Amino acid sequence: MNIHEKSRYHEVHARSLRDPEGFWAEAAREIDWIEPPRKIFDASMGTYGRWFVGGVVNTCYNALDRHVANGRGDQVALIHDSPLANTVSKFTYAEMLREVQALAAVMQDFGVTKGDRVILYMPMVAEAVVAMLACARIGAVHSVVFGGFAARELATRIEDAKPKLIFSASCGLEPGRIVQYKPLLDEAIRLSSVKPETCIILQRPQHGCDLTAGRDHDWGSLRRAALDAGKKAPCVPVLATDPLYILYTSGTTGIPKGVVRDNGGHLVALKWSMFNLYGVKPGEVWWCGSDIGWVVGHSYIVYGPLLHGATSIMYEGKPIGTPDAGAFWRVISEHKAVAFFTAPTAFRAIRKDDPEGTFIRKYDLSKFRTLFLAGERADPPTVEWAEQQLKVPVIDHWWQTETGWCIAGNPVGLGMLPVKHGSPTVPMPGYQVDVVDEAARPVPAGTMGSIVIKLPMPPACLPTLWEQDARFREAYLTEFPGYYKTSDAGYKDEDGYVFVMGRTDDIINVAGHRLSTGGMEEILASHPDVAECAVLGIKDTIKGEVPCGLLVLKAGVTRSPAEVEKDVVALVREKLGPVAAFKLAITVARLPKTRSGKILRGTIKKIADGDTWSMPATIEDPKVLDEIGDALKGRV
Ligand code: COA
Ligand code: AMP
Repeated sequence: MNIHEKSRYHEVHARSLRDPEGFWAEAAREIDWIEPPRKIFDASMGTYGRWFVGGVVNTCYNALDRHVANGRGDQVALIHDSPLANTVSKFTYAEMLREVQALAAVMQDFGVTKGDRVILYMPMVAEAVVAMLACARIGAVHSVVFGGFAARELATRIEDAKPKLIFSASCGLEPGRIVQYKPLLDEAIRLSSVKPETCIILQRPQHGCDLTAGRDHDWGSLRRAALDAGKKAPCVPVLATDPLYILYTSGTTGIPKGVVRDNGGHLVALKWSMFNLYGVKPGEVWWCGSDIGWVVGHSYIVYGPLLHGATSIMYEGKPIGTPDAGAFWRVISEHKAVAFFTAPTAFRAIRKDDPEGTFIRKYDLSKFRTLFLAGERADPPTVEWAEQQLKVPVIDHWWQTETGWCIAGNPVGLGMLPVKHGSPTVPMPGYQVDVVDEAARPVPAGTMGSIVIKLPMPPACLPTLWEQDARFREAYLTEFPGYYKTSDAGYKDEDGYVFVMGRTDDIINVAGHRLSTGGMEEILASHPDVAECAVLGIKDTIKGEVPCGLLVLKAGVTRSPAEVEKDVVALVREKLGPVAAFKLAITVARLPKTRSGKILRGTIKKIADGDTWSMPATIEDPKVLDEIGDALKGRV
């Protein structure tokens, strides 16, 4: 019998589609409900139906209190490992609970109640996890903003979420550089018409900051006072359908989309995934090397492992340079992690520095069972290298901020299916993944098309965008009626394996970070000397893709193209953030367009990447492509 036959996957997936309510009702038994759901799925509610309607629950209770009540109080819940701060700290479930109860009480003292929004603009410190869980405890809706984003990005999120309170820190740590958060926070609040009443600021020892009188409060003093006074906020019951968090992600314009996550569906799907997909048992050590600013960090640094009673590692460092390409293996071996989840880009960086895997052999990785990759396409050479070096299964899996958990993966707990390099394997329970043509008709196996998910989507997937039902419908549900549009293109093979080949919109993936080229174009176009521009993602051996901007300068501009190019590089760093890795702007005389005026971005990309391309039939002037080719020579 081969592993394919041994896996329970096919039976489980088929059941989840045949009897979704029965399937998810069973999964929901793993959650402690204050009141069980009246209806497992109500098709009449929301934009495409809602899960666990009428259920009353508390996410923080399920992540902490119940484990303490069930004897896991002394087990380590969170290991914070920071080669950048040179510290390792551990918090048991009982300690986490005490911290969360105290901080939740502090929030209540500032008037934060159920349904209020709270923004976290935080580096990778344990306090960020405490703050997320404290929000969940009192029914406040958190919105974590990634620390690599600039003030303007933070401002758009403050404007949209209208937070009552913001948690932030004096600084973040990047290799060789301290990132001061306070000036970014102050500037964001200045830019936003919405002003939070309260900011709670964590003073980090590496760099302190001044507090703004009346608005800012010192996190450490509030914490100490609350713990000394024995303050403990109880869990506030919320509906399963109430929002747990909003997470902003790049849309096709500069205005980000506020993805809403509910409490009930999120609890059930994440808990299900920890063993069935990741093969991790309660009490084991699990490491997700993402950032809490991304969905992967939300789901698998914070919620998934804690709901499951596992030990979660939070890492403030890089795959290389902190201090070397052995950083990951040091963490896995020191903390005895059984599974690790990161982005392929991290492995490309390690492979470049340590192609022979010399560092890997310096560490005892005997407890380590599985490597999971996501965030961008896992290119087969990287996967093969990782398999050869680590000698454990390397599992690519595909998901999006919108879904909150894996759409297609290889379910370790149910029994692994054979790995096919280049494919994240098969749809998870509740996901009917189809590949369709423009008319929403499924295409035959092996044919490329738009990848869509049949409605309703399973628990944890977004019910809507924050206060924007119409934008949600328009962006996701309209183009392919009856389906959710993933905006990814690809195909399925004869065995039902999904192959995700790239986006159909202007989203690019830079080192696993999701960015909008449309948003970057808006920034470039705001430069007074720029008449027209186009930004596209071009191939990069480490980051997968990096943005490249083409500029057409206005007539009569006296400054040199090199000066303007330098300006726009600085402008994107200032307005969007360093994480965009926008380092290349090239001035051209004209942009290639179709006769109807559409910029031929796809063709420019092929030229830049050195791929074969053919002259588009609709091109206005074929000579422009030669000019572009010449301009790109030696620069990309
Ligand atoms: N706060 C402030 N700045 C940040 C930041 C943060 N939280 N995160 C990144 N940056 C900055 C970096 O300092 C860097 O600035 P620089 O241009 O001055 O060097 C820039 O943003 C780009 O950072 P990064 O994407 O980390 O690239 P890098 O070149 O420093 O490192 C990798 C490359 C591949 C090692 C790194 O991208 C990596 O580890 N990627 C894995 C990502 C990941 O796990 N994603 C999770 C998705 S599942
Ligand atoms: P994010 O919302 O930041 O998680 O980015 C989601 C997008 O990243 C997806 O729509 C895909 O384009 C891409 N992506 C994530 N994981 C994978 C994967 N395993 N294979 C291919 N693309 C992926």
